[in-house]
Amino acid sequence: MQIFRTKPITPNEFSDTGLKKCLTAVDLTLLGIGAIIGTGIFVLTGIAAAHQSGPAVVLSFVISGVACAFAALAYAELAAAIGGCGSAYGYSYAAFGEIVAWLIGWILLLEYSIAVSAVANGWSGYFNNALSAMGMGLPEALTKAPELGGIINLPASAVILTLMGLLIVGVKQSSQLNTAMVGVKLITILVFIGIAGFNVHPENWQPFMPYGWFHTLPDGKTVGVLAGASLVFFAYVGFDAVSTAVEEAKNPQRDVPIGIIASLAFCTVVYIVVSGLLTGVVPYTELGVSSPVAHALQLMGYHWASALVSTGVIAGLTTVMLVLYYGLTRIIFAMSRDGLMSPFFSKVHPKTQTPVRVIVLCGIIMAAVAGLFPLGALAELVNIGTLAAFVLVCLGVIILRVRHPNLHRPFKNPLNPVFPLLGAFSCSALMAFLPSTTWLRFLVWLLIGVIVYFTYSIRHSNLAARK
Ligand code: ALA
Repeated sequence: MQIFRTKPITPNEFSDTGLKKCLTAVDLTLLGIGAIIGTGIFVLTGIAAAHQSGPAVVLSFVISGVACAFAALAYAELAAAIGGCGSAYGYSYAAFGEIVAWLIGWILLLEYSIAVSAVANGWSGYFNNALSAMGMGLPEALTKAPELGGIINLPASAVILTLMGLLIVGVKQSSQLNTAMVGVKLITILVFIGIAGFNVHPENWQPFMPYGWFHTLPDGKTVGVLAGASLVFFAYVGFDAVSTAVEEAKNPQRDVPIGIIASLAFCTVVYIVVSGLLTGVVPYTELGVSSPVAHALQLMGYHWASALVSTGVIAGLTTVMLVLYYGLTRIIFAMSRDGLMSPFFSKVHPKTQTPVRVIVLCGIIMAAVAGLFPLGALAELVNIGTLAAFVLVCLGVIILRVRHPNLHRPFKNPLNPVFPLLGAFSCSALMAFLPSTTWLRFLVWLLIGVIVYFTYSIRHSNLAARK
């Protein structure tokens, strides 16, 4: 049963792997916030409120947030005990064996790369609006994918290539840019909260749950608070990327759990407050637009604040792309180092101490995808992949407690196995509420992964060489 061979847990995953160790607990928390707050709160909240949850979108955020909290505790335990920049991929390698690890790595590649490309599309829309407001808007042919009547979505490609340059230069520099941009987006959110707090009309919260808990419409679409929770889950995607920074953290066993839990807790509070206020200031039926936060401010008559929000969104989406792109490269790096992908990708540049080859390859592919395909509708594909990873990380906690009871665990889940089981259960439930088309696409991607594993990875794995 070589496909279930497990990777031994060694302290090497924390020692010198060539990557530069420079990130502090604050850097890691800000990386988390950088990856988390983005399209989800600035765009999907309005869509979920208008079409799936109504004002109860706030409940959708609570439900998703609780599922993520259990997953975050599981990530914190495994990141501190096992380490390695492969995140869920690496933990699954120790807990479940190679094929499961490969598939989860394969899923994470899909999750992160689609997320970056899709967010780049949203970013491009805002960026071009800002340029148009200054009288410098780009022609349509250069802002739309061929399928939508353009030639290329140039800003979407360009922003990814710019981030590529930044990630090559170094992780510390990337983290500094992240910190500045997170500042801008938090100011934006504070301005919204400050204004909206004085403009709430409680009658807007009635009816609170116009679409009920969950049902499927004749056209296959799902509605209700639980369907809304599966959609707004996208807003939480990203805290897991903090765990890919283990090998670049100064004191990973202490600081990575802090970064994961603190960033998620902070963002959950922000989401609940913002979604509650958003549905309180304007009727939920008016929120189904591409920029609901700016739109709500417009409707309240705060045009200057609406422009500010657009700036905040541009900054916010930039950090989401930056951190998820970063996470993607580290996961491929880890998979290549283990032999499951070509060793070409696990070279670290001696000067910049970053994995330059994999950064360039991912950058070119994602820039092409973002420029040539309209990706707006793919958020749910990101969700299903991330949720699958979360389920395995939660179950991994339980399995590793049995298989390696004496492993040093600087951070431990309370009430094991209750918390991890609740995490696995709630994340599986959120997967079940996703539409069937999303499941189909997901299964096709898994099938391709299985084919790649049996044609390449199984023979090139480092564990195969050891025998
Ligand atoms: N959580 C990230 C966002 O909402 C992916 O954009």
